[in-house]
Amino acid sequence: MNKIVITYGTFDLFHIGHLKLLTRLRALGDRLVVGVSTDEFNAVKGKRTTIPYIDRAAIVAALSVVDAVFPEDNWDQKRTDIARFGAHVFGMGDDWKGRFDDLGDICEVVYLPRTPDVSTTEIRAQVRKPSLQTDPSPC
Ligand code: CTP
Repeated sequence: MNKIVITYGTFDLFHIGHLKLLTRLRALGDRLVVGVSTDEFNAVKGKRTTIPYIDRAAIVAALSVVDAVFPEDNWDQKRTDIARFGAHVFGMGDDWKGRFDDLGDICEVVYLPRTPDVSTTEIRAQVRKPSLQTDPSPC
């Protein structure tokens, strides 16, 4: 049987936590399909991405552990997506623990531990900090 795993995320400023999660999810089955949230959907959630959907989706699709990418543009599409992809496992990082348990009637729901100390929010904050300046004047 081809075991299909499905997950969702924004994957903005793609980082090692994203890669580790997707790698572990792929190891749970034979195919990994990933819903990447659109810029419009992020706006609905009151979030603005740094990298546009088309580029975020291209980065995720290029990963060897990812078999297909599709747009996530609303909160309610997960049941339809699970059915149309024939997904056996729905997986997310454990910051979402319990949030999608209702999908357990149509597939297995798993929450994997997040990689500590890295997030898009943190990277964005770091990049915004003024960098340390070295004094260009001679001694
Ligand atoms: N994720 C993870 N480990 C991290 C960061 C994210 O396993 N250190 C997982 C999340 O749990 C989610 C997926 O990666 O299942 C996509 O997360 P996303 O929200 O796009 O990334 P974050 O870095 O959490 O972004 P933000 O800071 O905006 O919440």
